[in-house]
Formats: sequence, structure tokens, C-alpha cells
Amino acid sequence: MKLQPLISESEISRTVSRLAEEIRSNHKGPVTLLSVLKGSICFTADLMRELDGEVKICSTTISSYSGRLSGEISYDEPKPDDITNSHVIIVEDIADTGKTLHYLVQQLSYMNPKTIQICVFLDKPSKRTIPVKIDYIGHTIEDLFVVGYGMDFEEKFRNLPYIAMLD
Ligand code: IMP
Ligand code: MG
Repeated sequence: MKLQPLISESEISRTVSRLAEEIRSNHKGPVTLLSVLKGSICFTADLMRELDGEVKICSTTISSYSGRLSGEISYDEPKPDDITNSHVIIVEDIADTGKTLHYLVQQLSYMNPKTIQICVFLDKPSKRTIPVKIDYIGHTIEDLFVVGYGMDFEEKFRNLPYIAMLD
């Protein structure tokens, strides 16, 4: 297995600042960041610190991957109190087939948030099988398997401070 650097730490930091600006231009009031664990752990930690104003943080654990293959979804729902009547922004590491985000938006809508938006660090549009409306995108990439900055392959490489392709 070989790692090939794709997005550096400094580029990550510029991207997060730009996304925070986009979010702030749409939301003047309180927002709730829903961190999709474990992959968005680094992204959420960086993004929350770039947002001024009132920011609440909550999380959900959801996964549809085993190894490199997209499979069945397992889901741990967030507390309804954190979602109901809030402007929720889903913070996700990467949108691939769209299955995870589609499922999540559907589940959250039962909890009656004021609004739901989606913010992803990476988007792989060529892999999409279910359409999802993504409001904030860090980088669009080709059909590559990437790790680092929270993203894993079989629970490894989450701690890489940059994003790399895995050969
Ligand atoms: P989807 O449901 O197919 O869109 O899968 C999205 C989830 O799969 C993401 O939240 C990631 O956790 C994971 N995933 C998709 N592509 C990659 C990748 O290239 N590296 C690591 N995880 C990935
Ligand atoms: Mg994920």
C-alpha cells in the first residue's frame, strides 16, 4: 500500500476558511454542526473554530463502508433536542455514492429541523448513485480512494494531517 499526497495541510486550512466564510454569508444566526463520525472529526474541529457567532456541535455515527466497498448502512442517531428547530449543517468528510447523506437527511427530517444543509470536504461526483444537494464543497476529486485528515482505510491513516491517495 502506497500513500501519494493529494491535499496538503496548508491547502486544507485555506479550504476550511473559505467554507466557513460561505457558511457565515448564509447564516447570520446560530447554527448546529452535525459531525458525521468518525471521518469528519478533523474537519469539524477545524470548521467550528473558523466560525464565529453561536455554534452548537453534535454528532452521529454512520457508516456504509467495509474496506473499500460501499455496503449496508449502520446508524446511531443524534439527540432530537440538538436537531429540532435548529439550522443544521451536516459536516461530512466525503460524498461518494450519496447513500449516507441521502439516508441521513431523511432521518433528520423526522426531527423537524428549521433547515438542513450539507457541507463536505471532498466530493466524488462520478460515484454518485443517489442525488444529494450539497451546499458547501471543499474539493471535487476523481474516483480515488483517499485517506488522512480523519478518513480511514480499515481504521488506519485517520491521523495523517494531510490527505493522500491510497494505491
Ligand atoms: P457514500 O454513502 O457512498 O456516499 O459514502 C460516504 C462515506 O464513505 C463517507 O462518509 C466516507 O466515510 C466513506 N468514504 C467514501 N469514499 C472514501 C474514501 O475515498 N476514503 C475513505 N472513506 C471514504
Ligand atoms: Mg463518513
